Order: sequence, then C-alpha cells, then structure tokens
Amino acid sequence: MTPPSTTSQIKKRILSGVQPSGIQHLGNYFGAMKYHVELQNSGMESFIFIADLHSLTALHDPLIRKQMVIDLALDYLAIGIDPDKTVFFRQSDISEHAELTWILNCVTPVNILEQAHAYKDAVARGVKDASAGLFDYPVLMAVDILIYKPDFVPVGKDQKQHVEIARDIAGKFNRVYGNVFPLPEPKIHETHGYILGTDGASKMSKSYGNVINMFADEKTVKKQVMGIVTDSTPVEDPKDPDKDTVYNMYSLFAGNDEKNSLAAKYRAGGFGYGDAKKLLLEKLMEYFRPYREERERLKKNMDHVKDILKKGAEKARETAAATKAEVWEKVGLNI
Ligand code: ADP
Ligand code: TRP
Repeated sequence: MTPPSTTSQIKKRILSGVQPSGIQHLGNYFGAMKYHVELQNSGMESFIFIADLHSLTALHDPLIRKQMVIDLALDYLAIGIDPDKTVFFRQSDISEHAELTWILNCVTPVNILEQAHAYKDAVARGVKDASAGLFDYPVLMAVDILIYKPDFVPVGKDQKQHVEIARDIAGKFNRVYGNVFPLPEPKIHETHGYILGTDGASKMSKSYGNVINMFADEKTVKKQVMGIVTDSTPVEDPKDPDKDTVYNMYSLFAGNDEKNSLAAKYRAGGFGYGDAKKLLLEKLMEYFRPYREERERLKKNMDHVKDILKKGAEKARETAAATKAEVWEKVGLNI
C-alpha cells in the first residue's frame, strides 16, 4: 500500500517544534530556529510550535515552564517568525496532540522506543528515574508531525532519528488501519545541522554546558566566548583557522571577506586566540543587537504575544481536528 501523497498541496508544508528548555543557544539558532525563518520566507506553508508538552518529560516546575514558554515565544518572534506567514502556536493548546499519542502508542512497537536516543542518553547519563513520558517522547513527537501532514521537518541532525521514528510509526498505522499519514522527510540544514560546542568536541547542547546563548547579557556571553577551548599554539606562531573553534564560530556570522581576512591573520602568526575571541564577541553582539531590541519591544506587550499564540492555535486546530476525524474513522472510535 503506498502512503498518501502530499503532492496535491500546491505549496510544500514544513512543520517543526522546539522545546522550551531555557535560553536558546547558537546550535538551536543556526540548526533550527534561523532555518525555520528562512523556510517560512521561502514561500513554504509553515507550522512552528512551542513543544511545552515535551518539556514535561524533564521539567517539573510550573512557574519555570510558563516563563520558558514566554521566553521561547519572544525569541522566535524576535528573530522573524511572522504570524502572517507561519502558524505559530503552543502544542498544549491543541488537545489532539495528547489524544492521538494514545492511538499511535497502540501501534508503536516498544523496541523502536528502546533505540531512541533521548531515553538512551538519559539512561547512559545515569538518570535512574527516567519517566514513561521520556520513553514515549518520540511517539508524542511523531503525532506533532503527522497530525499536520507536512512534507518536511526542519531540525538539527540530532533530531533526525526522531523524524525517522515518526515515519516508521506512520507506516505502521497506515498498514494496520489504512492510509492516513504521508511520510514526512527530515530537512537538515546543509552546513548548520551540527554546531559544535565551546569545548570544540561535542554538539552544542544545554545538557553539556558548552553553549553560547543568543540573547544572554554581554557579561555572560563574554564568559562563554572566553571559555572556548583552543589549542596551545603560541601567539607568534601561524595557526590553521579551519581547525579552530573560535574561527568556525566566527564563520557562522561573517561574510566571505571578513572570514578571509580573519583566516589570513591566523595564517600570518602574531595573532592569538584571545584576539580572535574578542572579534567573535563583537560580531556576536552586533549580529544579535537588532533581534535583542525587537525582543525587548515585544516584551513590553505580552498581551499581543499571547494573542499571536492564541490565533495560531485556532488555525492549527483546524488541521489537527481534520486529521483526528480521519483517524477516529479509521480506528472505529466514531460510532
Ligand atoms: P539541546 O540539545 O540544547 O537541548 P534541543 O534538543 O532543545 O537542544 O534542540 C532544539 C532544536 O535545535 C532541534 O531542532 C535541534 O536539532 C537543534 N539543535 C540543538 N543543538 C544543535 C546543534 N548543536 N547544532 C545544530 N542544531 C541543534
Ligand atoms: N524533540 C524536539 C527537540 O527537542 C522538539 C520537537 C517536539 C519537535 N516535537 C517536534 C521538532 C516535532 C520537530 C517536529 O528539539
């Protein structure tokens, strides 16, 4: 049985979500959030949501959750998610996400979930009381995706496995009950799908404490930049820019001329990693300045921000309710 096709839609649809889990970092920005804005502006139909139900797997403080949701909404709007072009909403506003999770749970083999890295990593990190929610996280994520029948799911490389699990679950449902879900494709940014952390060794991640934050104050960002791990080549010696984390981070923000000029300084010698860090800090602060200002402006009118999320939820609900009706019909819950 061939899965239903999305080609009848004229515009391709993207869908993605980000967990409200604290201040966002350069990995989130380049690997996911900035890419979402680019795709939104490329004319695709776009759905972006704040995955607040997912945050329940790790965070048990209601006040912190509320604050993190607000912060993430501000971050997204400040960097250019435009409610006229994107259906921008909060996952928990759409009750179909939780409802369909039960239905898909009942066709998902446990062994798929045992392979999923969010749970495996937590166990490997020694988390003894990992919740059933964390174990089931990929099914909720599969529902988040499948309910909106997107063509593409833009995420960082680390989330590719979860999108593949969503495809597996969709295939299983379609085989058991009949075609409902088209199979979505993960869409990973060609060059920014895996941003290295300040340790220069692993993926930038809140869990590894190797981040540079997008919107933190200058003092915090300075500390993070100065903490980037570099090798011990003396100041006077020539250096290979491509092997250096400071240079690679600078490249994320700089144009070609600026990159070439910095690379020439590295190769010439007499230029230390401390000098490069100062340049990176300046660049970072300059790059995020307009977004920071926009964020401050938005923050002054939180009613407007909440209203955007409410209107986004109204639009998202139309699609979610239509998919739920199809599923209820297929599984026989609508007597
Ligand atoms: P974290 O690992 O810090 O908890 P999340 O899991 O909340 O990050 O990721 C949110 C989004 O940002 C996801 O789409 C994820 O793939 C992307 N992302 C996270 N870290 C990176 C990174 N270092 N490089 C590229 N993309 C990333
Ligand atoms: N699991 C994703 C993350 O940690 C967030 C997420 C939840 C998501 N549901 C999604 C991403 C659906 C894309 C599509 O970043």
